[in-house]
Amino acid sequence: MASNTRNIPVILSCFILFVSLTSAANPPLKVGFYKYSCPPAEAIVRKYVNKFVSLNRGLGAGLVRLHFHDCFVRGCDASVLLDGPNTEKQSIPNKGSLRGFEVIDAAKAELELRCPGIVSCADIIAFAARDSSCKLGNINYDVPSGRRDGNVSLINEPLLNLPAPFFNATTLRDNFARKGLSLDEMVTLSGAHSIGISHCSSFASRLYPTQDPTLDPSYAAFLKTICPPPVANATAAPTVDPTVNLDSITPTRLDSKYYVGLKANRGLLTSDQVLLSSPMTAKKVVYNAKYGNVWAKKFAAAMVRMGNIEVLTGKQGEIRRNCRVVN
Ligand code: HEM
Ligand SMILES: *[C@@H]1O[C@H](CO)[C@@H](O)[C@H](O)[C@H]1NC(C)=O
Ligand SMILES: *[C@@H]1O[C@H](CO)[C@@H](O)[C@H](O)[C@H]1NC(C)=O
Ligand SMILES: *[C@@H]1O[C@H](CO)[C@@H](O)[C@H](O)[C@H]1NC(C)=O
Repeated sequence: MASNTRNIPVILSCFILFVSLTSAANPPLKVGFYKYSCPPAEAIVRKYVNKFVSLNRGLGAGLVRLHFHDCFVRGCDASVLLDGPNTEKQSIPNKGSLRGFEVIDAAKAELELRCPGIVSCADIIAFAARDSSCKLGNINYDVPSGRRDGNVSLINEPLLNLPAPFFNATTLRDNFARKGLSLDEMVTLSGAHSIGISHCSSFASRLYPTQDPTLDPSYAAFLKTICPPPVANATAAPTVDPTVNLDSITPTRLDSKYYVGLKANRGLLTSDQVLLSSPMTAKKVVYNAKYGNVWAKKFAAAMVRMGNIEVLTGKQGEIRRNCRVVN
């Protein structure tokens, strides 16, 4: 009798284990997810990325950033692609600066002809970010896939979840930690600012009214020739917002020269330069500047980790037919 009752917890825990194994509702992402369901999926995405990025390398930068802005807001669920008046696209971090949507649309259009209803928009973004990294930096890696698309996109969420360009090393660390990414991954992924551009409005506070002393004076002088001082009367303010390359050494090459720029006090955003000025991250910057090949490997691994944030899989979400609207 006594031994029988002692067995009950064992039997119960075996039962719970059995249930949790058989009801595996949300399987993990998997490399080659479309191998049987849509064999040309990844090749089709790569074809369009190569085509568009050959004509405009800036679109490659846009696609890497698109994956970041997708994953940090409601997970990598393509919520960033949804059109509408109150969607993520209309938020301050995204509006007027996110780009690359036409590349996703072109790939999706062909995928819907070749394998209708199979390949998610969230996976297309992840593949396109990888293909852009390959094209612009020869950084290639396997992308685990099987993401499904969400159907919620809210205008207030990007500002609540994405780091801002004025963040310091502590707030950057905490922001990435909330998404399960380490301090080293934060510094590594910031290397994406080795490509692409920023609007003056994202760093003008480092120029006016007082010049940020951590900014190289000759670089600051150059930036002031491009970015006009703010106008006191906001209604009379010019609507133009010029752009500057994020990496002044190799602006269209995804490489570790971004960190070399930081060492020369030529980080464009406050969030770039603080990586060198903070004792928490300074050594990582120096290391990445010195060992570009190690950084490239860490970048690939960190992109895969970022691509895993709060993903929908299995029966969750849906496969959108058009990446801009829910089914
Ligand atoms: C560490 C915190 C980060 C902050 C505060 C930040 C902020 C910004 C800002 C303000 C811009 C310029 C937007 C504009 O004015 O047009 C920008 C551009 C960009 N960001 Fe970040 N970012 C961060 C991390 C990342 C990460 C993790 C990635 C990707 C892995 C990334 C990829 C890019 C790319 C590629 C661009 C250039 C986009 C283009 O040229 O279209 N950023 N970022
Ligand atoms: C970083 O910014 C936060 C929020 O603005 C502030 O509370 C904190 O003191 C700052 N840390 C450093 C080291 O400047
Ligand atoms: C601001 O500028 C606008 C347009 O130039 C002008 O109509 C308005 O009177 C100005 N407001 C102030 C407070 O100077
Ligand atoms: C949202 O996605 C769910 C699947 O998670 C689907 O059943 C539902 O119909 C979708 N809602 C809308 C409004 O499209």
